[in-house]
Formats: sequence, C-alpha cells, structure tokens
Amino acid sequence: MKPTLTQNTIMEEDPTATAERKKNPRRYSLVHQASCETQHHIGVRRQNTIQHRKQLNDQMRGQKIFQQLNDEGIELIFAANEGCIEFSVIMSSTDTLPNFFTDIINSLKSANVQIAHIESRPGKVAGLDVLADCRATKRELIEAASFLTKLHNSLTAFSVFKKKSNEVEVWFPRHISDLDRCSKCITKYEPTTDPRHPGHGDEEYIARRKFLNDQALEFQFGDEIENVDYTETEHATWKAVYEKLGDLHESHTCSVYRDNLKVLQEEGVLTSDRIPQMRDVNKFLQKRTGFELRPCSGLLSARDFLASLAFRVFQTTTYLRHHKSPHHSPEPDLIHELLGHVPMFSDPLLAQMSQDIGLMSLGASDENIEKLATVYWFIVEFGLCKEDGKLKAIGAGLLSAYGELIHACSNTPEHRDFDPVVTAVQKYEDDDYQPLYFVADSIHDALAKLRKYASTMDRPFSVIYDPFTKSIETIKSSVDLEKAFSRLSNDLSAITRAADRMKIITSA
Ligand SMILES: [Fe+2]
Repeated sequence: MKPTLTQNTIMEEDPTATAERKKNPRRYSLVHQASCETQHHIGVRRQNTIQHRKQLNDQMRGQKIFQQLNDEGIELIFAANEGCIEFSVIMSSTDTLPNFFTDIINSLKSANVQIAHIESRPGKVAGLDVLADCRATKRELIEAASFLTKLHNSLTAFSVFKKKSNEVEVWFPRHISDLDRCSKCITKYEPTTDPRHPGHGDEEYIARRKFLNDQALEFQFGDEIENVDYTETEHATWKAVYEKLGDLHESHTCSVYRDNLKVLQEEGVLTSDRIPQMRDVNKFLQKRTGFELRPCSGLLSARDFLASLAFRVFQTTTYLRHHKSPHHSPEPDLIHELLGHVPMFSDPLLAQMSQDIGLMSLGASDENIEKLATVYWFIVEFGLCKEDGKLKAIGAGLLSAYGELIHACSNTPEHRDFDPVVTAVQKYEDDDYQPLYFVADSIHDALAKLRKYASTMDRPFSVIYDPFTKSIETIKSSVDLEKAFSRLSNDLSAITRAADRMKIITSA
C-alpha cells in the first residue's frame, strides 16, 4: 500500500554512506537474534527428548508404549517426581467405541489412575479418539499405559499432555540485579571472524573493541560505570556522525526526538566535540525518566534485551563503529545508542511504554518473544511517523544512520500503515536497506499500539514492577492481587487528597 502523504524532499543518498553500506551490509538484527534463540531452544529440547526417550525405554525394557508416546508425554513422565501429576491423555483406536472404552476404563482402574473427565470423538485420520483428564503418580501412569497396550490390540496412539497450570516455567529476572544473568549472546558479528565487518583486519580497532567489550562484560549490578578514555579517532568519528546527522534533524526526524535532543544539547549532555560518558548520560536520564544505560558486551538475545526494559534499563554497547565507516554501522554501537535511543528514553511517556513492553515480555513464549522483537525492531529501530504530511523517523536505527534515514523517508521503499498484528510477521531484510517501512501516526501512537498488542499475548500470570525495590511481583492469585491493591491504595489516597485539595482551592 502506498502512503497517502507527501514524501520529504528527495535527497540524493550520500555516496559515502552508500559505499559503506554496500561494502558492509547489515548483519545484526533483534529479529534475527530472537529467531536464532527460538531455533536454539527447539534444538536443545529435541536433543533432550531423544535422550530422555532412550533412558525411559531402557528403564522400561523397551515396552512398545514408549516408542509410541509423544515428546510432551516423554518429558512429563521423565520430569515427574514421586507425587501425583495431573495430565490429559488422548488414546486412538480403530476398534469400536464400546470395546475401546471398556479396555481404557479397565486399564486405568487397574493402575489406580483417577479419571476426572472422559469423552470420545471421531479420530483425526480414522477410527476414534478418547480424551481423558487424569490424576496419577508416574508409576501408575506407566502401568496404565502398559496395561492398555497389552489389552487393546487396536491401539494406534497414546499421547500424554501436561495439564495447563498457572506455574511460571520460563526464568526471568525478578530483581534489577538479576540482569547480571541477562547477557546471553546468541549470534556474534565480530571483526575478527567476519570479513564483511568494517573493522575486519584492523588489529588496533579489534583490540580496542575487545578491551571495551571485556570491561562491559565485567560490569555487575551495584558497580559504578567506569569512565572511558576515548581516543581522538573515536571523538572524531562521533563528531563526523553527529554533525552530518544534524543536517537532517529538522527535515527528517519526528518532533518528540527533536524536542528531547534539544534538552540533551542544552544541558550539555550531548555535544559534537566529545563523546559523553555513560555515567553523565545516566545522571540526566535518571532525573528525567528513571531510565539508565547499562554497559553490555555485544549483541544480546531478544529476551534479555526486552527483559532489561522492564527495569528501565537499556543495555548499551560501548564500542564505536569503525572510523572508515562512520555513516553506516552494520550493528549497534555507542553512537547508535546515544543519538538514536537516548533522546527517546528521555521522554516520560516513551519511557513508561518501553518499560511496559519489557514487563509484558517477561516469561513470554519463544514465539511471542519473536513477534514482540519483530514489532519492536520495525518501530523502535526503523519506524516512521507522519508529521505535517511528511515522513519522519522515529526509529533509532534511522536516527543514527545518515544513509538509511534518507532512504527510509524517500519514495524508494514501500510504506505501510503500522499495524502490530501485520508487522509481527513481516520478514526483515538483513543485508540491505529495508524495502518496506511501517508508518505510525506518531511515536506515542506506535508504542501505545505495541503495548496493546503485547497485552493480548497469552501468559498465565501478570506482573507489577515495584520501583522502591526495583523488583517484579508476580500476580498469580487473588492473595497476590490483594497485596498489590493494598500497596496501590496508599498512592491512590494521596492522589485523592490532592484532588480534594484542588477542588477546595478552585471553589474558594
Ligand atoms: Fe537499537
């Protein structure tokens, strides 16, 4: 769909930026990270199941049932301890219903399995399926399965499923200090190994990058961020990017970005001559929105990156792009973080929305993390909005890269209205500028839609952030809810008292 708005004045793409991009196509993306993480988890689970199936088969002397059992059933039985487990079992047969039902009841009863619910339905392929919700110990379940296999010759499938529960299964950080454990790198894009990296072959750059990454890796919660003694080459790279991007601010960036950038400049946090220290940026952000930058050593997994936002922490790379490629960086670097993201985290509403998205990512499934990362990537990194009938950048990836900023706002790529449901499954171009960009009404509108979208994702619990202890409370029961209400009621009564006071003053 073509946009119904006027494109910005067409600007020629900068030849330097074009050459840099073509020589060093982009490799890194949060979407790619999320997808790799999902595939990694699938692979690990598969390997575990193969191993567990073999172990159970050996223990049960090769009983036929363990060759037929589904993967989830294998994992459920393998993980079960001595206590009772609740499960659903689907059994399939080509025999008649009365015969099958009789054999099932006899088998389950003989093994002492308790049946809470049982029903039949036509089989998916042929014959019939019987579903039973049961409760039994691991030993009783295995015994019932063995009885049924022996008793009923026409049995074609026996699948066991875990009963849905409110248990939280995926680990996620509960306190801001747990972010020390959130530094998983799924893929690496290193100048040491990848000839497409702009720093490939430059030993001095490689050593500098390693030094800064090692320093970031050592950072732990409670440490004071160390000031970095940036080299003159690094300051010059910063200045070149800062000044060149400055030419496009008025014409190509959204008003929220411009307003916040202006404050950062007026307060002397961002200047063209020197790279700011992360500690100074944090002092500014803490005062404005409570956000803070935390040094990270490279490319984090999408899950860890999003989880950090829940604590108003932004994981920040500390190395700079290569000085020979200042206008196109194939990966996030300090310039991208400072010029692209920091002005947005200075905005109270955007800070709140970013944290909400982080909170909604905690404990989410791999599939949902991948969707969330894709939407986040297309909007927070490469999103556009409409202002005065023109396209303006809201994404940090555009706000920190001259060449792509011009490209994104021009007539060359396709532009579509932002809809998180559509964006969540959009393929991302890894090796070149995007052929498609999503356009929101504004950055606030985009993040509000993203937040609403994230809230529709299924999760068996809710979370609340406690800003006093910087920790996450999980709401799983009415007791948890009551506690949360009682804490909030103090805040609400203070607001109510303030409102009453205002009424008195207004009516006086
Ligand atoms: Fe970024």
